[in-house]
Amino acid sequence: MKKSIPTLSLFDAVNIALGAIIGAGIFVVIGAAAGLAGPAVFISVLVAALVALLTGLASSELSRRYPKSGGAYLFARETISEPAGFLVGWVWLFSNIVAGATVAVGFGYYLAYFIPVPAGIGAALAIFAVTCINLLGAGKSSMINNALVAVKMLILLFFVVSAVFAFKPGNFQPLMPFGVEGILAGAATIFFAYAGFARVAVVADEIKDPKKNVPRATLISIGVSSAIYLAVAVAAVGIAGYKALSDSGAPLAAAMEAEGFGAGASVMALGALVATATVAISAVFGLSRLAQAMANDGQLPSLISKTDSGGVPKNAVLSTGAAMLIFAVSSDLPHIAYISSFSLLLYYCAINLIGIRTFKGNLRFAAAAGLFSCIVLMLSLPQLSWLVGIGVVILGAAYYFSFVRKRKGAA
Ligand code: ALA
Repeated sequence: MKKSIPTLSLFDAVNIALGAIIGAGIFVVIGAAAGLAGPAVFISVLVAALVALLTGLASSELSRRYPKSGGAYLFARETISEPAGFLVGWVWLFSNIVAGATVAVGFGYYLAYFIPVPAGIGAALAIFAVTCINLLGAGKSSMINNALVAVKMLILLFFVVSAVFAFKPGNFQPLMPFGVEGILAGAATIFFAYAGFARVAVVADEIKDPKKNVPRATLISIGVSSAIYLAVAVAAVGIAGYKALSDSGAPLAAAMEAEGFGAGASVMALGALVATATVAISAVFGLSRLAQAMANDGQLPSLISKTDSGGVPKNAVLSTGAAMLIFAVSSDLPHIAYISSFSLLLYYCAINLIGIRTFKGNLRFAAAAGLFSCIVLMLSLPQLSWLVGIGVVILGAAYYFSFVRKRKGAA
């Protein structure tokens, strides 16, 4: 990977992760998770946090040992083999493209709150805008990112505080109408909300003292987002009940509206637009940089690695934006969220597998527990997500052995 001068502090690194984490998951997908788990959706949030934490431990230890940009793509290349690195990178690209598309659809739902346009059009507009922002090279501005992260956290805090005045404990009765199965299905779905914690490892070259700061930022961001999500999940059910949440594409605004708090609903919709936009900007940024790196390594067409005069990998940005657009307009919630969660979990399985191969003692045990927990959540997702996930792996392997291997053999 091309070496850049590290300029970002631990604070910036935590905000890069929070910028990538807090988005459509808590503002949109929480509704689908509440529909599956019932009032116990906050338990789903905790289960998903535990899975994220176990994988976060493996990811942060690997980034301590390999403090360079690339995330699991690099870990797999260094510890297993080049084809394994390719496949892991491939799954990462796919999972983040679908996650970005899901986030854009979430943006579309909340935009519809202000402007009467179909969610698909709003999603397309969002993708167009974030692609342009990345083309301008603004995707990595840490000052803008830090400010936007502060805005979305404050708005979620506002939601939790408002809930204190409209909290109905009766909404938690019965607590688990869909049993443990429902809680696990909810956890697998809301796991989407934690995706992004490994983003710091993907851009490790830009962070000062990455050996220390990348692992710290990974774990701190999981801790902060878990605490916020738990509070928001309890607050949302407490205000509106799980049914109202699951019936809406913009559940946090719907919760406020259920209380007749129209201004509060607008604040939440605004917060959701900011949150989903920041996650989408960061998704295109991360995706384009990994695609560029893989192209530099001869694993994707060389066209993708080309940069413009400002150093922006223009073709990588445009192709990730185009791929996101295809998914955003061709699928709908919650299916796109399921596919996204599945492929993210598949990627995290790879991180844990690398951990099991590389670590000893307690860390190896944590990686094994991480792998097991990812598989349990994957088993709780619908068949469609398995079909798509396995199809993506087969497609990646076919591409690698038909093109990349041959090209490298000929070189
Ligand atoms: N975790 C990110 C979100 O919730 C993908 O939007």
